[in-house]
Amino acid sequence: MSFSKVGVVGLGIMGAGIVEVFARAGYEVTGVAESIPAVDAGQANLAKSLSRAVSKGKLSQEESDAITARVIFGSEFKLLAECDLVIEAAPEILSLKTEIFSQLDSVVKPSGILATNTSSLSVTEIAHATKRPAQVIGMHFFNPAPVQKFVEVISTSESDPKTVAQIVELGNSLGKHLAQISDQPGFIVNKLLLRYLNHAVQILDSGQASREQLDSAMRELSNYPMGPCELLDLIGIDTCVEILKTIYADTGLEIDQPATGMVQLVKAGNTGRKSGSGFYDYADAHQVPTDANDEIKTQVHNDLLIAYLGDCIAMEATGYATKADIDSGMKLGCGLPEGPFEVISRLGLAKVRVAQAELATRTGVVAYQPLAL
Ligand code: CAA
Repeated sequence: MSFSKVGVVGLGIMGAGIVEVFARAGYEVTGVAESIPAVDAGQANLAKSLSRAVSKGKLSQEESDAITARVIFGSEFKLLAECDLVIEAAPEILSLKTEIFSQLDSVVKPSGILATNTSSLSVTEIAHATKRPAQVIGMHFFNPAPVQKFVEVISTSESDPKTVAQIVELGNSLGKHLAQISDQPGFIVNKLLLRYLNHAVQILDSGQASREQLDSAMRELSNYPMGPCELLDLIGIDTCVEILKTIYADTGLEIDQPATGMVQLVKAGNTGRKSGSGFYDYADAHQVPTDANDEIKTQVHNDLLIAYLGDCIAMEATGYATKADIDSGMKLGCGLPEGPFEVISRLGLAKVRVAQAELATRTGVVAYQPLAL
């Protein structure tokens, strides 16, 4: 099967980004959202992203016009009837996604593949909202989708191997680096990333460090492109809370319970950049945070890093993902300069294990203990 028509349902930050990825790669794209204002917002997001690329000289005006001409927008599912693939990028609410999949199942041609961009929900449960679970798959992009080169391809126990192979071929045609994995809460990257982000907000909530200290610590001492509070604002704090709830329901570990600081911001409607404010205010141009307190920065940096490296070691040990896929996911999905296993080999595994034990003892959090050898 060769794909020519691709549909995207949901035109928020991720949906609009996915539309751009496919249209740039030459596919005919239909973007559908639930209301006319949501369609207009998605269309405006695409236009903004393309005009930024044109003004930076990365794209000619003709190329930008050709990309725009490949995309149709609308608010009716029937526009998706002839699509070879439809990717759903709606908010992280299972009942909403299952409702969308049930509707897609009734309008999209029988040979069409249905994919979800869910960040953590069960692809299996979503697939069961349709009568074609063998043709349902997870295709998880990272924000901003046109920039991040990693895509997780999630198959369920019912996915048809042919469907998986077709999606892998398609993903490669987009110039993305793929990891093929099974259906587990948070998959590779979000399981690791969200625990790290939650840890940062737990530190913030405890008063041990400010948001600026946390952000400048990770930017300056590990060369991350963004600190944790800035990244939470970029992803959307509401989305992060939903992902953590799914992970927490699976692990039952206190460290996965969404941190109070995040939950309160969501309750107040301050969900991050998309709402105009979150950990930071985006009314004015966002300034890169700096903070001069080196002692606090070093401490929180080391704690966040060691807990995260321990999680990466534990994930690889379960056999869920390889070191190579974990490293690629964190570098190509989140723009980190080094993969966790590259960091571990630079620091030395023995040193990491000692630091894990020290962190567990000092904080009393058993989950930070190194794995038994
Ligand atoms: N859409 C399209 N392109 C964009 C963009 C957007 N929204 N934002 C930035 N870009 C492009 C810019 O045009 C620029 O392209 P060129 O290099 O070709 O000129 C490039 O990205 C770098 O942008 P900037 O110079 O403006 O800004 P920056 O260097 O500060 O980078 C960033 C911005 C790419 C967002 C970078 O800070 C980064 O990688 N941050 C980490 C983001 C991350 O971790 N994402 C994953 C989150 S987890 C997730 O998404 C999964 C989930 O389910 C929750």
